[in-house]
Amino acid sequence: MSLARNTAKPLLAALSTAAVALPLAACGRDEPDLSNGKALFVQRCGSCHALGRAGTQGTQGPNLDDAFRAALARGMNRETVDGVVRRQIANVRRSSIMPANLVKGDDARDVAAYVGFAADKSGEDRGALAQAGLAGATSGDQIFTAAGCGACHTFSKAGANATIGPNLNELATAAGKRRPGTPAEEYVKQSILDPDAFTVSGFQPGVMPSFEGKLDDKQLQALVDYLLGK
Ligand code: HEC
Ligand code: HEC
Repeated sequence: MSLARNTAKPLLAALSTAAVALPLAACGRDEPDLSNGKALFVQRCGSCHALGRAGTQGTQGPNLDDAFRAALARGMNRETVDGVVRRQIANVRRSSIMPANLVKGDDARDVAAYVGFAADKSGEDRGALAQAGLAGATSGDQIFTAAGCGACHTFSKAGANATIGPNLNELATAAGKRRPGTPAEEYVKQSILDPDAFTVSGFQPGVMPSFEGKLDDKQLQALVDYLLGK
């Protein structure tokens, strides 16, 4: 199954005009709020785009670390990345599955600044920034959204309707039957931490990423309770 698309072209096309956007970025606006930008990126963009520092793993759109790597290595500065992202948010090409203006105004400024800051940057976010996004999500619905589960699964409570993985609406019933002798809760935890331990018939192994080390124990429990309707 090939989910990722080769999108080197849109980036290059955007780059050729990026210089035009730069003077705008420089004219006396407030400092962007990177924590707000990261939180919004994880909620609105992460289901389609992977970005390492944000911990997102979406595959419908290009991986944004990869997308900017070559240009950054050639010396493109991070403000230019910021400008490219802003323009992409506001001027998505018509046929794209990416919705235009998912974030607006200061929110768009913040999201673009965060991607500009984070793209292809090694290491982990620190301080307040480390708490934005998945790390700061506490309730089951927040975690489901922030972890990008909705990119692959249908789960009506969360407004998710993807079909790459099994529909989770009837999980409480299904989970008790998947592996005889394994309680539903244990099965669901294992599905999240070690997806390839069991493959639901009709689906591919190796597609769902492991969330081992990405969720703490409390988050895992809150997510499992949410999925099982507890
Ligand atoms: C429904 C999936 C989807 C969502 C949600 C989405 N994108 Fe995209 N995005 C895409 C696809 C697909 C492309 C490939 C180019 C195109 O279709 O315009 C893309 C292209 C991009 C690009 C250009 C990358 C390149 O290589 O040229 C950037 C930057 C980008 N998106 C940022 C964002 C940001 C920021 C958000 C959130 C505000 C977001 N996207 C939300 C699907 C999505
Ligand atoms: C990139 C796509 C993808 C993402 C992201 C993803 N999953 Fe999955 N998931 C799958 C696929 C494909 C399967 C079926 C194959 C298998 O059993 O491993 C699956 C299986 C499952 C199952 C077993 C379902 C059943 O009916 O037995 C559960 C539970 C589950 N995922 C929960 C989650 C949760 C919670 C998240 C977010 C933390 C998540 N998934 C993120 C693709 C994904």
